[in-house]
Amino acid sequence: MSQLLVKGGNRLTGEVTVQGAKNSVLPILAATLLAGGQVELRNCPRLRDVEASIHILEALGCAARWTDSGLLVDTGGLNGCVISDILMREMRSSAIFLGAILARCGQAELSYPGGCELGPRPIDLHLAGLRELGAEIDDTGGLLRCEAPRLRGREIVLSLPSVGATENLMLAACGAEGVTILSNAAREPEIVDLQEFLNACGAEVSGAGTDSVAIVGGRRLHGCTFTIMPDRIVAATYLCAAASAGGEIFLRNAGERHLATVTAALREAGCAVTADSGGIACACRRRLKAVRPVRTAPYPGFPTDAQAVLMAALLRSRGATVFEENMFSSRYRHVGELTRMGAEIRVSGRVAVVTGVETLYGAPVCCTDLRGGAALCVAALAAEGETRVSQTAHIDRGYEDIARDLTALGAEIRRIETTPIET
Ligand code: EPZ
Repeated sequence: MSQLLVKGGNRLTGEVTVQGAKNSVLPILAATLLAGGQVELRNCPRLRDVEASIHILEALGCAARWTDSGLLVDTGGLNGCVISDILMREMRSSAIFLGAILARCGQAELSYPGGCELGPRPIDLHLAGLRELGAEIDDTGGLLRCEAPRLRGREIVLSLPSVGATENLMLAACGAEGVTILSNAAREPEIVDLQEFLNACGAEVSGAGTDSVAIVGGRRLHGCTFTIMPDRIVAATYLCAAASAGGEIFLRNAGERHLATVTAALREAGCAVTADSGGIACACRRRLKAVRPVRTAPYPGFPTDAQAVLMAALLRSRGATVFEENMFSSRYRHVGELTRMGAEIRVSGRVAVVTGVETLYGAPVCCTDLRGGAALCVAALAAEGETRVSQTAHIDRGYEDIARDLTALGAEIRRIETTPIET
């Protein structure tokens, strides 16, 4: 077990390169099953969720190993189509493998992915779309038994722009006969990255980034070398860290285009945010101001994954900010921990009101989920004294090494190993 010790009060200064995107590499790792050969993924982040995906690929008979330039995956040896309950529980988003396994094998068996810290994580849209492509799915008894001897392309209209459903159906459609059109598709940048990866493998996918994605099925795919896009939520996290602690930082390899709603909120709060082809600079020289209501929404709206870290940055702002979390039913679990540090936050259903305080105090706090854990670190940078953050495994799912990166930006943060009794 490990904990993070954060000594607050330092203004941040320095620069750091933003890691590859978790929410891009996870669907791409599933997509490697379609390549049926060797794929080299550069800028692949070393995350717990990536390791969980590697465990799934290896359980399916594939090979994966880290090299100096990234992750080398070879799915030529695929010899199974079952993902065990243990592997499914290791990572909730493992459902993303379903479409790729069906496209490659014509059948699949997964245990039903459970909920997670953010609340129930249904996959009804994934299953409805796969059934429309011709898959027969028995979803009783906690298992998903899927048969798809022939997938046929067609138009599928998603009732909501689900990121995972869009990705899963893109992968399944690569194995379908004919053309599939996904309407009301999610528009996240990570979906564009998935499209670019598939096309690098010889697929014919277009429209990603808009609400209509077209996939020409039945093409024989091959391996490729592909560079994973930078992680926009990690970039948002570090921008919020600078806003929280004050100072001036530069994020290499970060693009503002994918973060416009976050940088707009930080500018409104009083940060000077500038971007060029090399990255994003953020300078925060005075106490922040509260901002207009922050409503999370599908891309290009404000990203739900940045809600917690922006909230943490505004805890000492002048005034009150209203947050409205519209994407997940339980995404304020970090509020209780922030309150232990002296934050003033009132939650009622989907709405949280943050009233800025003069001072935050270091305290022992516990990560409740991935982005909530990152928010605790962001708040700790502005707190008086030391904050001890436990259950850091949540953070390690999505951040390669948050202590390394924040230290590079001038923070006093270090990881310590603890025995279960100490944790
Ligand atoms: C992806 O989750 C991301 N995860 C999440 O990031 C992100 O918060 C989310 O998209 C929204 O942007 C990965 O990419 C691995 P959705 P996903 O399907 O695909 C409901 C992080 O912190 N829904 O767009 O699960 C669902 O319950 C993680 O990096 C259905 O009802 O998100 C949710 O309320 C957290 N039925 C909403 O749609 C379905 O079949 C959005 O979910 C699917 C989704």
